[in-house]
Formats: sequence, C-alpha cells, structure tokens
Amino acid sequence: MLVRLADPAAREAGLAAALAALAAGRLVGMPTETVYGLAADATDGRAVAGIYAAKGRPSFNPLIAHVEDFAAAERHGVFGPAARRLAEAFWPGPLTLVVPRRDGSPISDLATAGLGSVGLRVPGNAAARELIRRFGRPLAAPSANRSGRISPTTASDVVAELGDRVAVVLDDGPTPVGVESTIVSCLDDGPRLLRPGGVTRAAIEALVGPVDGPEGSAGEAEADRPVAPGQLLSHYAPRARVRLDVDHVEPGEAFLDFAAAAVPGAEAAACRLDLSPAGDLAEAAANLFADLRRLDASGAATIAVAPIPAEGLGEAIRDRLSRAAAPR
Ligand code: TXA
Ligand code: MG
Repeated sequence: MLVRLADPAAREAGLAAALAALAAGRLVGMPTETVYGLAADATDGRAVAGIYAAKGRPSFNPLIAHVEDFAAAERHGVFGPAARRLAEAFWPGPLTLVVPRRDGSPISDLATAGLGSVGLRVPGNAAARELIRRFGRPLAAPSANRSGRISPTTASDVVAELGDRVAVVLDDGPTPVGVESTIVSCLDDGPRLLRPGGVTRAAIEALVGPVDGPEGSAGEAEADRPVAPGQLLSHYAPRARVRLDVDHVEPGEAFLDFAAAAVPGAEAAACRLDLSPAGDLAEAAANLFADLRRLDASGAATIAVAPIPAEGLGEAIRDRLSRAAAPR
C-alpha cells in the first residue's frame, strides 16, 4: 500500500494503516529528511528480525532507533554533556548519536546488535515524528534498500527495492537532505565521527571541538575493521562500476558531473547528469542517490564521476561515492 501524505484525503487513513502494520510487527516505508527508512517496532525482536531478513543485512550491524524528541531519547540512552549539546543543536535533524544504552530500555537486543550502546535519532520529517509519537515506541529503521545497494530517496525507490516486504509505504516526496544522518558516538572516549552525513563535521566541531574519525574510510583497506559496524567498504553500490575524480570520460561511460566541470570527453558520454550545475553541495547531496540510480539504469558499464570538493557536505558525498566505487 502506497500512501501519498500530501493528499489530505489519504493521509489519516494511511497513517492509521501504518500504525496498525507496526503494531502487528510488520514493516513500513517511512520518509525521513535524509533517506527513506524501513521501519519496525524497535522493542519487538521479531519485527526487528524482519528488517534484517528483508534487507539481507548481517545481524551484527545495529539499527538506529528513531524517537520523537530528546525526552524520549533519554529513556533509551545516557546523554553526557557533549551528546546533550549536539542533540539540542541538531534534533530534529540528520544526526544520529551513539550513546551508552540506558538500563531498562525496552529496545530489542537485536536492534542494538547486543552492544552496550544505542544509536538514537529524532528525524527531521514531521510525518515520521507523528508516526513515532502516535505509535508510542521507538522505530528501528535502516535505509530502505537491500543491503549494500543505493539508498532510497523517493517512495518509488522503496517500492522498487523492497515493495514485496513492506505493508505500507508513506510517500512524502523526495527526501530533502539526500544522504544519511551523520553518526557521532559519545561514549567514554569523547565524541567521534563514525559516519559523515547530513550535518557537517564543521557544524559538529563548532559545538564540541575537534572530533576524530571516521576510521576505516573507504580510502583505506579496512573492510575487516569497520567502526560503525555498517560502514563496510562496498556499499551504496550500483550495478555499474564507478570511477571517481575522473580527468576524462571514456566513450560510452555514463558521466556524473558536478558544477558543470569541463571534463574532456564528457560530450561522448552515454548519459550525463550534473549533481549541481551551480556547484552547491547541499543540492548535490539531495541529488546523489537518484542520479546514481538513473545513470545505472542507462545500462552503461561504468559511471565516471567528476571531482567533488571534500569540504562541508562534500565529505559525506565523497564517502558514499568511494563506497559505491569500492571493489565488491
Ligand atoms: O539517515 C539515516 O541515518 C537513515 C534514516 C532512515 O534514518 N538510516 C540509516 O540507517 O542510514 P542504516 O542502518 O542504513 O545505517 C545506520 C548505521 C550503520 O552503519 C550502523 O552500523 C550504525 O548506524 N549504528 C547503529 N547503531 C550503532 C551503535 N550502537 N554503534 C555504532 N554504530 C551504530
Ligand atoms: Mg544504509
């Protein structure tokens, strides 16, 4: 069942159907501001097992629990001063905080992969928060793609990836941020960046000072030692091979441009998209996964990608692209 939340006549019945599905332990395609999530009751181990099965995801890789606000987050995790400052600044929004798990939290051990920590986030999408508030329990939600594939930024991507596995998909239009949340761990050793994402490193560091990480970035050969357990080297992978930071385009390659760069050979590309002709990294992040899907669908054997600056949101974009390009 695909529900268009923008349609006032469909919205309430759609939310009610989603709540009933969650209560029955089933899976719901949930909009967030970053990417669409595959949501289930985080306190129901069988429902959570359904997420791992649908995605084909290894169960050592914990899930983010989505909560309605900071007060709800504090029922599941223990927030020190740095974590509290980050939550206050960026929630609701594209930041996940990994904090010590609070004793007595009903979140399933399967969702946290048995770790002593829990990843929590208050999503920036109002319909997602309404769903969570009305459900009354946290929702475990990874990105709604098959494990290792390109993350979904539209409801139709969710249907294409997992349509046979979800009871309801809530369509709230294309996701505005377009890359997943930034993950910061705030455990004993101070804040560490586990995954670059929709909140920039500079914005985090402005509040809590310099943060280390991520380790095992796709540039290094550390696939066997991921820090966020999901940060495996090959991820976000289209069918086509991906070539990064190209200084020319080979005939027949698909070309993913940025800022209308004058890359030799671009005229001969089989297919060409520009993440942001104006060179705006926020626009590029919002277009990244949809453009990768479109170029992949062109059937070209290789996607050549123009250089993208590493600052600001460019860090998250380059992280996703380098995993898309990693050997599989
Ligand atoms: O923007 C997002 O974060 C999206 C939307 C749907 O909220 N979700 C998302 O989930 O990207 P997923 O499962 O694709 O990525 C979650 C990452 C994984 O790399 C996982 O290993 C890490 O978060 N993670 C979750 N809990 C953790 C924990 N306790 N310690 C370390 N890493 C954790
Ligand atoms: Mg994912």
